[in-house]
Amino acid sequence: MLSKEVIAGGLSTAIVGKKLFLFESIDSTNSCARALGDAGTPEGAVVVAEHQTSGRGRLGRAWVAEPGTSLLFSVLLRPPITVETAGLLTLYASAAIARAIERSIGLNVQCKWPNDLLLQGKKFCGILIENSFQQSGLTYTVIGAGINVNQPELPPEIADRATSLSREAGRALDRDKILQAVLSELDIMYQAVRRSEFDTAVSEWTQRCSMFGKTITVQEHDSTVSGVASRLHQDGGLVITTEQGERIIYAGDVTVVA
Ligand code: BTN
Repeated sequence: MLSKEVIAGGLSTAIVGKKLFLFESIDSTNSCARALGDAGTPEGAVVVAEHQTSGRGRLGRAWVAEPGTSLLFSVLLRPPITVETAGLLTLYASAAIARAIERSIGLNVQCKWPNDLLLQGKKFCGILIENSFQQSGLTYTVIGAGINVNQPELPPEIADRATSLSREAGRALDRDKILQAVLSELDIMYQAVRRSEFDTAVSEWTQRCSMFGKTITVQEHDSTVSGVASRLHQDGGLVITTEQGERIIYAGDVTVVA
């Protein structure tokens, strides 16, 4: 079981994790963090759960994880940034988590647009960012992440495209320590994000992404776009060169074709 005392005891962050909530079971850590955001809770609060009964993924999907095997958590932040730069938060979160996994476990992490993290081409971490805007701008963001840590096997229906840290490292891992590492890197990179500086996040994300120059298809809600992944747009969107010209995509599932 995760231990709040152990996690908090070994954390020396400035903002992220200053307040920590740990639940044995909850509907969704993102929903809980959003409720905290709506209630005016200061930034840095982190909600962690051993189990979620209604874990949410991107594009309205469910996120299901066996109790006690994963890290399921959400971070409430209030960066004073504009609506135009909010899309870059996903690159910040991905880069910080990737860094933490590389530094604490020594595995090479790949970033897949928009916010999946992979090991050897298989997903081990999904990120769901939910923003609250008012006329004045962003009032808060919730960065939710599900990290597969100690699953010895993944369910057969996703085993060809999903993995866990323990499978790739070849040993069982300490979830308290990994969460500490992740919260620390989120905290370090957040110093720049608060100043609306995303250069480090964007360049660290780009270094770990091998999709550029390749032909991809993007499954959007009700259509598919094909083309060459050209570059990141300055707002975090993905620029694709199609037969009709350039298009910027903001959501969807990417498949690399060639
Ligand atoms: C995805 O890849 O679709 C994103 C998955 C995000 C799942 C995490 S688990 C913790 C947090 N709480 C949720 O309900 N979702 C996120």
